[in-house]
Amino acid sequence: MSSPAPAEWQRDMDLTTANTLRLPCRAQFFAAPRTRAALRRCIVQARQRGTAITLMGGGSNVLLPPRIGGLVLQPALHQWWLESDGSRVRAWVGAGVNWHRLVMALAERGLWGTENLALIPGDCGAAPVQNIGAYGVELADVLVGVEVMSLDDGSVRWLSREACRFGYRDSVFKRELAGRVVITRLLLEPGREARPVLGYGDLAARVGDRPSALEIARAVSAVRREKLPDPQYLPNAGSFFKNPVVDEVVARKLFARYPQLPCFAQPGGGYKLAAGWLIDRCGLKGQRFGAFAVHDRQALVLVHTGDGDRAGLEAAASRVAAAVSQRFGIELEREPRMIDG
Ligand code: EPU
Repeated sequence: MSSPAPAEWQRDMDLTTANTLRLPCRAQFFAAPRTRAALRRCIVQARQRGTAITLMGGGSNVLLPPRIGGLVLQPALHQWWLESDGSRVRAWVGAGVNWHRLVMALAERGLWGTENLALIPGDCGAAPVQNIGAYGVELADVLVGVEVMSLDDGSVRWLSREACRFGYRDSVFKRELAGRVVITRLLLEPGREARPVLGYGDLAARVGDRPSALEIARAVSAVRREKLPDPQYLPNAGSFFKNPVVDEVVARKLFARYPQLPCFAQPGGGYKLAAGWLIDRCGLKGQRFGAFAVHDRQALVLVHTGDGDRAGLEAAASRVAAAVSQRFGIELEREPRMIDG
């Protein structure tokens, strides 16, 4: 028989309001350790009791089941600080720091590199997992490396940006290291020199001639507020599907038939298509599926309008994906992370 659960673990924790999709979920145990020592203690105790560990950050990119057995760990490492050696500035950032707050704090200090990633929900620790990206910038562009703690024994190691093997909404944390490590902190290198990235959409038109990082962060926030539903009022997890990357043959065929199809050549080869456009062209914008709906301003986002659960959401997502597959022959891939029960 296993030993009693540690006193600092909360039992039967309701996670419904802790995930931005508001999927009903209860965790058998929950802990939000505030220090690395406390985090390590949780890991070691869980291993000794044979308790499974599930990681959670800000809950903005996860699909939660009705019940999670074992321990849900949410690292509450809230410290961050800047280190400067004259020419270079580096930011050490705890996994529990809110991403948007960090972006605004860096932009306010005139530090460049993350301003296009303003208003992305969630905690910093989750940012490398899907290599968050928006408006022509990805986390990988400004990240030096990541400190991780092993979920086997609590040991700590350092991963360089290269070791994180970043791709579009992809990293080693979704692959070989999935379920094996928890990210404890990030090291970023924002620049003091202006380096505006304004090529995406109408961003350039929304700022002045020589915009500051803060002005760009505010403009990006304004665009996001216009297009993307605020999870506080309309539960959602941002883009529900990834933009599919297809080979040249497929891209040419589709483009010949649908010349308006947004299609972007990728540096590593292939073409990225706008999944939102594909869903929109299937006439699904605003379409309801039970307690879920395709958002009426951005078809890539599924919103939760009532009393649904993950099964209902999966059914809705399958209907959307089936429509796109039937009409365009493209298989959409889900973007948020599926959490096991
Ligand atoms: N489009 C439509 N109808 C729609 C939605 C989009 O026709 O309902 C068209 C747009 O007109 C545009 C194209 O599709 O030509 C691309 O749309 P948009 O610029 O809104 O970006 P996206 O491809 O839908 C991606 C990211 C977003 C990120 C934006 C801006 C993914 C999966 N999504 O969306 O990220 O904010 O670009 O960079 O890559 C997220 O990951 O949660 C997220 C919101």
